[in-house]
Amino acid sequence: MSAIDVQGVGVQAGNQWVLRGVDLTVEKGSFCAITGPSGSGKSTFVRLLLGQLRPTEGRVLLEGAPMPDHPTPDRGVVFQNYSVFAHKTALDNVLLGLKFKHAPRTGWVFGHALKVLRERAMQALADVGLETAARKYPHELSGGMCQRLAIAQAMIARPKLLLLDEPFGALDPTNRTQLQRLVRTLWRDTGATIVMVTHDEAEAKALATKLLRFEPCRETGHTRIRVQAPPSVSTGSPSMRTLERGAITPKPGKQKRKACNRR
Ligand SMILES: Nc1ncnc2c1ncn2[C@@H]1O[C@H](COP(=O)(O)OP(=O)(O)OP(=O)(O)O)[C@@H](O)[C@H]1O
Ligand SMILES: [Mg+2]
Repeated sequence: MSAIDVQGVGVQAGNQWVLRGVDLTVEKGSFCAITGPSGSGKSTFVRLLLGQLRPTEGRVLLEGAPMPDHPTPDRGVVFQNYSVFAHKTALDNVLLGLKFKHAPRTGWVFGHALKVLRERAMQALADVGLETAARKYPHELSGGMCQRLAIAQAMIARPKLLLLDEPFGALDPTNRTQLQRLVRTLWRDTGATIVMVTHDEAEAKALATKLLRFEPCRETGHTRIRVQAPPSVSTGSPSMRTLERGAITPKPGKQKRKACNRR
């Protein structure tokens, strides 16, 4: 079954078509990487899948059903500079999503139920290597740790669809490689469908089972989507083996550095 069906989608901002004539399918459980030049509409596409934005024309189906027009817990997102709550500890940042899943209107959970959720949140922190940072506040964490926290926060609600918009763009090579491995492990363990935007072709080839390249066509105003040959992840492509050895790093000069934003 398809996780995502995009049918004739166009998004207009003012007089400009940011995306137009987009038709594509993302298979359930796949890892789809999107590359393309700056301004080609990649982040706009992510916002569309998140439900932050409605298409001006066409429609998006999630698992065959029309997409809700607001973000829901079955869709998680990690941005390059994901905002975590500055006034909450790492544990409370992760716990918050669980509390609202448990008690959607108030987020109030007490007693035994709270204890169970705390244990799950601690496990989520352990899964991303942050077990010793549970009581720290975001200003006490490095950029890489903030991004691990953002991933734990996005994964805690067990989303069926995880959206990643340049999630490793602000990280140094070591953290970047570690988080690439972490995301790939989470993908394999959870069976979630992942859509990840990246500017790094090597990273896209190493991680993805489906590669899409967004290319704006100035003449027609349509976005051309090139589906590139998928690497054979199951058998271990050369680039995947390079990732196993921990050697996929951004090319010098391509790495963007930004501080971790905090709400
Ligand atoms: N709300 C908006 N109002 C007006 N224009 C917008 C809006 N959102 C996006 N755009 C325009 O849409 C185009 C695509 O933006 P988008 O952020 O999706 O590109 P991108 O492919 O993610 O680029 P980058 O690689 O630099 O992140 C840009 O020209 C941008 O200026
Ligand atoms: Mg973008």
